[in-house]
Amino acid sequence: MPTSPLLTSPTIAGTASPKLENAPLRSMATARGIDIGAAVAIPALRNESIYQDTLARTFSLVTAENVMKFAAVEPARGQFNFSDADFLVDFALNHDMKVRGHTLVWHQAVPAWVQNATWTKDELKEVLRNHILTTVRHFRGKVFAWDVVNEAFEEDGSWRKTIWYSVIGPEYLELAFLWAREADPDALLFYNDYNIETSGRKSDAVYTTLKNLRNRGIPVDGVGLQMHITLAMQSSLSSFKSNLNRLAGLGLVVHITEMDVRLQTPVRPADLEKQAELYGTVLSICLNEPACKALVTWGLTDRHSWIPQFFPGYGNALLFDENYLPKPAYNALVAALR
Ligand code: XIL
Repeated sequence: MPTSPLLTSPTIAGTASPKLENAPLRSMATARGIDIGAAVAIPALRNESIYQDTLARTFSLVTAENVMKFAAVEPARGQFNFSDADFLVDFALNHDMKVRGHTLVWHQAVPAWVQNATWTKDELKEVLRNHILTTVRHFRGKVFAWDVVNEAFEEDGSWRKTIWYSVIGPEYLELAFLWAREADPDALLFYNDYNIETSGRKSDAVYTTLKNLRNRGIPVDGVGLQMHITLAMQSSLSSFKSNLNRLAGLGLVVHITEMDVRLQTPVRPADLEKQAELYGTVLSICLNEPACKALVTWGLTDRHSWIPQFFPGYGNALLFDENYLPKPAYNALVAALR
């Protein structure tokens, strides 16, 4: 299916289409057996042809930035709305890209009808079970990997006191994986979190929990390291490497699921170079660990990124600038693949 009929605004005023010539990043990554992906913002996908072109040329995988979250998919009990998510999945499959599903169980994007009601344990289990079964079945055969549970632990390694934890108890975690497997026996099922890239109390808790789940036959196939980082990560790369290695030792697939490297604004050219080096090194470390099969960035262009809103004073975190021109970080990824 051609991409153009959906579009109203062909290009952004003042910007030219980037001449990426069949995007070496995508073809080289595929040749090396790794996926390079991006989280997708649906308004931009629907309205900007340059966003569509850059996405499809450059990446082999997409994640929905928001439209597969609980509140988006099931805004009222039993009323499912997959229209935005289907739009993304159709786009991806039409461009021969894989889709990561994000995310089934999280403490954010919980709709008001769930968050503000009083539930018994059995009632909330049924709510979660129905949500997971319906959502995963809807995308069966199209979504190859799911972030089943997102961000279940606090920085000190204790359980995050989400509504799922407080009402159902810690077994909500394994129940979610069992229900996801029931709904799609073929999708890879991931636990996903941030600040678990290097060793520390949180990453140790995740490691121990995943080890325990796998020992007990709970169907956890992979771990997602979000990797929302700053230039400070440069000094922790050996810890990242050994952490990857211990997770791989559990038999888990590892995806870097939400990478961005936020820089202080206004940005200094030297920081763009440091950012590039960090992107390149992270990809090299991933390429050297056979279990590491994907690197996904949390967006593609600095024009559409969650960073300025969520980390005031920071920005410029992605591979393409606000005019969709490839940054040094883009070239560093290509160099790492070469
Ligand atoms: C963020 C989106 O980027 C924002 O647009 C939204 O307002 C909030 O969520 N970890 C995750 C992602 O797992 O789902 C979050 O995405 C970023 C942090």
